[in-house]
Amino acid sequence: MSEGVLKRYASRLPLTAATPALTIGEGSTPLVRSRSLEREFGVGALYFKLEGCNPTGSFKDRGMVVAVAKAMEEGMTRLLCASTGNTSASASAFGAASGLETVVLIPEGSVAPGKMSQAVAYGARIVTIQGNFDDALRIARELAAYEERFALVNSVNPNRLEGQKTAAFEIVDDLGDAPDYLFIPVGNAGNITAYWRGFVEYHQAGLATRRPRMMGMEAAGAAPIVEGAPVLKPETVASAIRIGNPANWAGAVAARDESGGTVDAVTDSEILEAYGLLPSMEGIFCEPASAAGVAGLIKQARAGADFSSATVVCIITGTGLKDTPMAEQLMTRPPETAPPDMREVARVIAG
Ligand code: F0G
Repeated sequence: MSEGVLKRYASRLPLTAATPALTIGEGSTPLVRSRSLEREFGVGALYFKLEGCNPTGSFKDRGMVVAVAKAMEEGMTRLLCASTGNTSASASAFGAASGLETVVLIPEGSVAPGKMSQAVAYGARIVTIQGNFDDALRIARELAAYEERFALVNSVNPNRLEGQKTAAFEIVDDLGDAPDYLFIPVGNAGNITAYWRGFVEYHQAGLATRRPRMMGMEAAGAAPIVEGAPVLKPETVASAIRIGNPANWAGAVAARDESGGTVDAVTDSEILEAYGLLPSMEGIFCEPASAAGVAGLIKQARAGADFSSATVVCIITGTGLKDTPMAEQLMTRPPETAPPDMREVARVIAG
């Protein structure tokens, strides 16, 4: 039986006797060894952390379970978030599971259809904002300050990051030590901040002998940290990380600098290449934003970085089923049709 994040890592989370034992089956996601990309790009050992295996299909569930349990403990009755889609899916699920009303603010026309369906299915109040994610987050923060009963469950909520750091614990628990490098997509920069916190904490506790270099990847059209200034009109095919002014900017910079890592940008074509290689070469179907870390690894390997004796983990942040229209980008041959006759089908296949 799935124990959930709160139970598995209880001693390392900000829980009290009054925190409800909430779970919808999040955490304990697979860490799988690469079959082909490892060889293709000359990596010593390459692993993928499949965060799309969480109950709502993304890593957000790890932080959301802590944020919602704490909101319940504090007597809050409504959840509020701004989202590019995954946070809203997760908040809506935990809201439904715990009987709290959930209000989600999403940038109009910018959220993948699967993520919209999730908010609908879980019964959230959905408000589309005529602006981008950064506008939606600004309004969510203002609204939470204005109306007391709203628990803001974006990654500005410290409990979110506490929950998300458990993915770093799992990697060390699985590998027996921290990897040399961690490649991870960066949008609002909460996840890279949380992973770094988790690795530092395990290292300090003597549970890992080292800490990884943190390799954060922004999309080139939405790369404020790389450029050193907010991007007013962020643009990228990877809608989940279409963010111009990340809330956890300072956390990402600290993770980069303290770990000796980097925050780099990958272009849409680099993202789409990795988005196509993962399913076709590894059997891993993720959403475009989730391929950004792998795109960064490929970019650096091609530029001559030597990973031949390194252990590398790439975080695959969400499932490809969130954004099926995007998968049309991967179609090399349109589906064919045949009458219900074996020989006819054989003829089509042979064609
Ligand atoms: N990958 C996916 C699939 C995401 O949904 C997000 C963020 C990220 C990566 C980046 O993580 O923001 O912690 O740097 N999605 C947020 C949302 C913004 O609203 O669902 P980050």
